[in-house]
Amino acid sequence: MTKRDSHSGQQLWTGRFTEATDAFVERFSASVHFDARLALQDIQGSEAHARMLAAQEVLTTDERDAILAGLAGIRQEVIEGRFPWSPQLEDVHMNIEARLTERIGEAGKKLHTGRSRNDQIATDVRLFLREAIDGISEELVRFQCGLVELAEREADTIMPGFTHLQVAQPVTFGHHMLAWYEMLERDRDRLADCRRRLNQCPLGAAALAGTSFPIDREATARELGFDGPTRNSLDSVSDRDFAIEFCASASLLLVHLSRMAEELVLWTSPHFGFVELPDRFCTGSSIMPQKKNPDVAELVRGKAARAQGDLVQLLTLMKGQPLAYNRDNQEDKEPLFDAVDTARDALTAFADMVPAMAVNREHCRAAARAGFATATDLADYLVRQGVAFRDAHEVVGRAVRYAQEAERDLPELTVEELQQFSSAIGEDVYAVLTLEGSVAARSHIGGTAPAQVRCQAQAARERLA
Ligand code: ARG
Repeated sequence: MTKRDSHSGQQLWTGRFTEATDAFVERFSASVHFDARLALQDIQGSEAHARMLAAQEVLTTDERDAILAGLAGIRQEVIEGRFPWSPQLEDVHMNIEARLTERIGEAGKKLHTGRSRNDQIATDVRLFLREAIDGISEELVRFQCGLVELAEREADTIMPGFTHLQVAQPVTFGHHMLAWYEMLERDRDRLADCRRRLNQCPLGAAALAGTSFPIDREATARELGFDGPTRNSLDSVSDRDFAIEFCASASLLLVHLSRMAEELVLWTSPHFGFVELPDRFCTGSSIMPQKKNPDVAELVRGKAARAQGDLVQLLTLMKGQPLAYNRDNQEDKEPLFDAVDTARDALTAFADMVPAMAVNREHCRAAARAGFATATDLADYLVRQGVAFRDAHEVVGRAVRYAQEAERDLPELTVEELQQFSSAIGEDVYAVLTLEGSVAARSHIGGTAPAQVRCQAQAARERLA
């Protein structure tokens, strides 16, 4: 074994030890380079803890005031980027506690009475995630509002609807935008659900078994905006379900965004030409002067992979862990932060970019005409004339083959030509064969008719308000 340096050690547990921590171990176990991100939540938790300890007469009011003043100063140092983070002090908690004692002396050493880093970190992460969910939900709403506006603007725009990526039936562009809206509405609901379940305060669980001091858990929970204290101390310090639930919700959100991204990539390709993205969201090619690439959409599609990786990492981290706290849990922060940042950035990108895209109505319409998109309407027409649907399907299939060979669209056939396939066809057939007739006919709840799109957009506006 190679001999390694050991540090002089600023650690807070020197009492039990006869040698300082190995320098490698110090580096290996340090988390401050990522958990410093929780500094403000850590301070907030400490303030609530100190106030509660004083109210319970575990601390004097002078000690409490010194602690609160010290923490306020530290908060400023953190916000202004002046806090002297030290990797030797391992994590955010010990950095802040040591700094507090440096600033205020003896009283600083009393802050950790009746708590542990185990309930502290569980509290910090919940506070952090609660804020993160609120921020992400706001971006979700912003994107949804943009989609609703776009849906109203393009309520009458006809485009092909696809199944199997083959032209199926005409739909309205607005209807397609409201389909995206619905995916996001479920995402918002899932995040709200995750927030509701995480909003319990673990503070007071201490290391794992609670504390012998007369703490008031209701008070700290209330001050920190939680719905109440958690019910079991062992579970409190070991539970990371909320982080997993968040990553699951974020993964699904990113899956949705990746599906939209894929459609944008297709639609901006000249073969589709349905939409054009603003130049400021696209990049050029270093070699091909004509290129305008939808990189932002492609990156969002790619970033969905990160969120899924984060979820699998957390699930695997927790699998098989015995109660209560295990140091493994320190590994929860980086995937969680990554999922938060990824979800937020992807939403910001789309909330800015998607509503700003230009829809090429002529190209959308031409694409809907190209694929015999109103064939189902002809079959439905025949059913209304008394033909059984299965027979009508057969008749229209033959008419489509005829039109294909003649290189014409169904509405371009004369009524005599159409009558070769069924005598039930009359002059009034053209009303249903047009693209406008086809979409307007689908005017029930959830249908693609422009009138429905306007009505659904209005309802969405009210939900978002
Ligand atoms: N840094 C740890 C974490 O992120 C919290 C501290 C608990 N450490 C300990 N050795 N009990 O989970």
